Amino acid sequence: MAKNHKNRVGLTYDLRTDYIFKPGDPPDINAEFDHPSTIDMIADAIESGGHTAVKVGNVDNLLKSLDGLDVDIVFNICEGMHGRNRESQVPMLLELRGIPFVGADPLSLGITLDKIITKKILKSHGIETPAYIEIKDSRNLNGLGLNFPLIVKPRFEGSSKGLNDNSLVKNRQGLLKQSKWLIEKYNQPAIAEEFISGEEFTIGIIGNKDPKPFPVVQVEIDGSLSLNNLFYTFSRIHSDAIRYVCPAPISKRLSKQLQNLAVATYEATECLDFSRVDIRVDKNGKPYVLEINPLPSLSTADVFGIVGKHLGVGYNRMVLDVLDAAIKRYGI
Ligand SMILES: Nc1ncnc2c1ncn2[C@@H]1O[C@H](COP(=O)(O)OP(=O)(O)OP(=O)(O)O)[C@@H](O)[C@H]1O
Ligand SMILES: [Mg+2]
Repeated sequence: MAKNHKNRVGLTYDLRTDYIFKPGDPPDINAEFDHPSTIDMIADAIESGGHTAVKVGNVDNLLKSLDGLDVDIVFNICEGMHGRNRESQVPMLLELRGIPFVGADPLSLGITLDKIITKKILKSHGIETPAYIEIKDSRNLNGLGLNFPLIVKPRFEGSSKGLNDNSLVKNRQGLLKQSKWLIEKYNQPAIAEEFISGEEFTIGIIGNKDPKPFPVVQVEIDGSLSLNNLFYTFSRIHSDAIRYVCPAPISKRLSKQLQNLAVATYEATECLDFSRVDIRVDKNGKPYVLEINPLPSLSTADVFGIVGKHLGVGYNRMVLDVLDAAIKRYGI
């Protein structure tokens, strides 16, 4: 049973300004990191629950302060700077020292950052996800076995990194060109997926034993919910092109189906406390899970903030519910 006492809550995060650009870096290299205002909002939300927020910062700060860290639990939103396991690095240090932390453990964070491993797990659970191939070497594309158009993405990134108007490819030549660019620029294999032309949804989840899916949020791009060939790109995210519509104007049946899929994805990847699942529905009404984000943005303008507003509970309550899920799980 969780006791109802107030805690010292450490906050680990990466700020956009923490990343020093190197020559040749793509412009979206630091896209996953947060603005200081988001960290302040999370800290305020934690304190609104009577807890004390202790700002720790990124993995370097954590390494310096790890042994003297006077906290009961850490609210971690670090994306990490380098490598396929970058999201797992801070939780791994906390696990090492036995410090409780909010969110998925290092294994699930590693799995879900890697789109290919995630898809293998989803498939093994019978969860539909777009057909794909991995491209390690763009010169070797025999026996493709996929139907164009395809979308070409980096294998282990988030925040639509590596996505631009050339990512949607209509033929083998386009695929060769885009995967070559992506492999070289992002220093990792590409994944090419069959493009799901239709509508896009995202579903937030909080909780553990009986995870609660929130009302479905629909993605509007350039004023349209029928996305057809439109999709997220780095430049669209940084414009007014994308709007989240909550609740999604869809049937109760589809809404329930998407929520169930989101929870099944959360359970299959063994995420904890909270997550957000991205789903595309094709023109025949068939849903495909694109990915799960165990560290979804907690910016007030993003999905959790928007859902909090829609439910009338507000942003602080959403953040506190995530924290409470972890506190209850650890029995703190
Ligand atoms: N197979 C697909 N069919 C159609 N659109 C897709 C597909 N895969 C990706 N997209 C588009 O690209 C966007 C980003 O893809 P995805 O969610 O896989 O990557 P991400 O960078 O991890 O995302 P996020 O921005 O949520 O962190 C999706 O939100 C969607 O608009
Ligand atoms: Mg996504």
